[in-house]
Amino acid sequence: MRYDTADLSSTLLEWYDRHARVMPWRAPPHSGIEADPYRVWMSEVMLQQTTVAAVKDYFERFTRRWPTVRDLAAAKDADVMAEWAGLGYYARARNLLKCARAVVADHGGRFPADHDTLLTLPGIGPYTAAAISAIAFDLPETVLDGNVERVMARLHDIHTPLPMAKPELMQEARKLTPSKRPGDYVQAVMDLGATICTPRNPACGICPWRDPCAARSQGTAFELPKKTPKKPKPTRLGIAYIARRTDGAWLLETRPDKGLLGGMLGWPTTDWSENAPQEGPPIATDWHDVPAEARHTFTHFHLRLAIRTATLPNDALPSRGQFIPNTEFRPSDLPTVMRKAFDLALATLRDS
Ligand code: ADE
Repeated sequence: MRYDTADLSSTLLEWYDRHARVMPWRAPPHSGIEADPYRVWMSEVMLQQTTVAAVKDYFERFTRRWPTVRDLAAAKDADVMAEWAGLGYYARARNLLKCARAVVADHGGRFPADHDTLLTLPGIGPYTAAAISAIAFDLPETVLDGNVERVMARLHDIHTPLPMAKPELMQEARKLTPSKRPGDYVQAVMDLGATICTPRNPACGICPWRDPCAARSQGTAFELPKKTPKKPKPTRLGIAYIARRTDGAWLLETRPDKGLLGGMLGWPTTDWSENAPQEGPPIATDWHDVPAEARHTFTHFHLRLAIRTATLPNDALPSRGQFIPNTEFRPSDLPTVMRKAFDLALATLRDS
């Protein structure tokens, strides 16, 4: 049976009218409320490579502290990086700030609506530009995220593996994008992918697209989308040095903007390499081994960080980093791997 694309998108919009998830950046369907482009942009940047559940608290904290793009543009870099700590992919936070400043400096503090103008802003690629255009300005842009890919692969029973299948999936998604309510429509596909057309155990019985779905009639929904196997990640090794002065201050450093965890606060470490790390402490002293290592997985490698601790005199002069008084040190400002190292060091201090 052939289905008319207009019928498909209106069926999904009717479903969305009844089942749209409530999200703090979303204008509910038919509410008469307009989405705030600042909030839509921030949510889309946060949601790249991160789940809605992980993002919600961060989104609330950011928008409470910086309610408008002008407030964010005026923020201190270190405050934004600290607030982002734990969300990962820290280049996103540096670009968030750059983008806010560009919107204020070059666009009078208003986000542009148009896809190509959005693309000129820091940190906004084709996906985010399309998402902002559609969700914040209701323009008929097509958005292809992981949810949309899965839904399209199943609806059309496409067996080409990802990422090769992307152009084909984009083409199918584009055909379905309606000219009326494109913003609600894209969020409807996302919600369908997140709540019904889920990666495992799709709930086909209650899906508004169960009749037109080609994978459902072929019995292939469970195995789609196909994916090209990823290369295994290598493991890198390093050493983190956690030092505290007798007055309680901690030795921390702000990592260089370029590179991993760029702009984030952390313990001084050696380079991270696949060979055994060369010792490289920030100061020569009596370092103690912590009998545990912090493990963390980044996009392209696993990291195993050995941990050394030391107590330093108040007049210590390390070769790098700065001392942060205990009253100003908040472990929640640290990126996750540094936080793990800190928690392990504390646990062994307590046990000894
Ligand atoms: N994932 C990315 N953007 C989203 C949105 N606006 N709603 C739900 N999930 C999303």
